[in-house]
Amino acid sequence: MGVVTLPLEIVRDTTQKSAEQARLWCRQLEEGNILLFPQTPVALENAEDAQFLLGLEQSRSVLHKNLAYQVATDRIVGANLCSANSAAHARLRAILRGYSQRVTEFLVGFLVPYQARWQVDYTSFRPIEEQGRNLPLRKRNDLLHMDAFPTRPTQGARILRFFQNIHPTRPREWIVGEPFRALAPQFIPASIAPPRAESVQIRKMRKTVCRAGVGRAIPALQRSPYDRFMLRFHNFLKENSGYQSQGARAAISFPPGSSWMIYTDTVPHAVLSGQYALEQTFLVAPQAMVAPEHAPLSVLESIVGQRLV
Ligand code: SIN
Ligand code: FE
Repeated sequence: MGVVTLPLEIVRDTTQKSAEQARLWCRQLEEGNILLFPQTPVALENAEDAQFLLGLEQSRSVLHKNLAYQVATDRIVGANLCSANSAAHARLRAILRGYSQRVTEFLVGFLVPYQARWQVDYTSFRPIEEQGRNLPLRKRNDLLHMDAFPTRPTQGARILRFFQNIHPTRPREWIVGEPFRALAPQFIPASIAPPRAESVQIRKMRKTVCRAGVGRAIPALQRSPYDRFMLRFHNFLKENSGYQSQGARAAISFPPGSSWMIYTDTVPHAVLSGQYALEQTFLVAPQAMVAPEHAPLSVLESIVGQRLV
């Protein structure tokens, strides 16, 4: 099994923000590094909030999956945590809303070159022990994969995630693999067919249908050739037992109280164990990239020589 150099950049001081340093952080992320903050720069507002989140797991019967908060609608989605009006629900929503706001504020000042050219996507709380979760293969997070959202195609925007391990004592254990730019050519075209650009007519038709609102009901219609490929590649990697057992990887342990940031559409990752994490997703505009040649979209477009969004 190949081993990759641990793509880890440790950030202890978030106040040293020269323009060059901020640009370097963006570049390191885009190239496929993880930025690790041993002490999270975005702590929960108070200890009671942490206690509340840690206590949620006890009512396991009502919590079967990660809970997600959507800033745009100010709603918790995917939770059957009592009723939407219950006090627990309202409190969870307030905690995730505040967390989302503070992570966003932090990143505005930390990743300055991006100038907030992103869409703030879901905030999630992950209360379930990751080791031994019984999920269908394509939903498993303990298999190396790059993220691709089936219902929220990004059209080339990058998936940046900010995590925090709020477990009081236990680390969150990950493995990561070679980033997209190094990995994709190992499989395209011999093991997975490259993306194919769509004709102008098809693209126009798709856009018309989406504008008419049909796209919301049928997410597949919104998928650009890029999104379709990324979804196929996500499934391909999880289903590829050779890659899962032999692919180059490095192990990373995220200590309690730490945060880390990563482009999860670029770096294959898997969580092997750990419980209680917070996470905020951003969809960063392709135009904001400081090293666009590392973006999966650029890599794919240069492989096929055609535009894919
Ligand atoms: C994932 O994005 O695959 C899961 C990461 C985690 O929950 O630690
Ligand atoms: Fe993932």
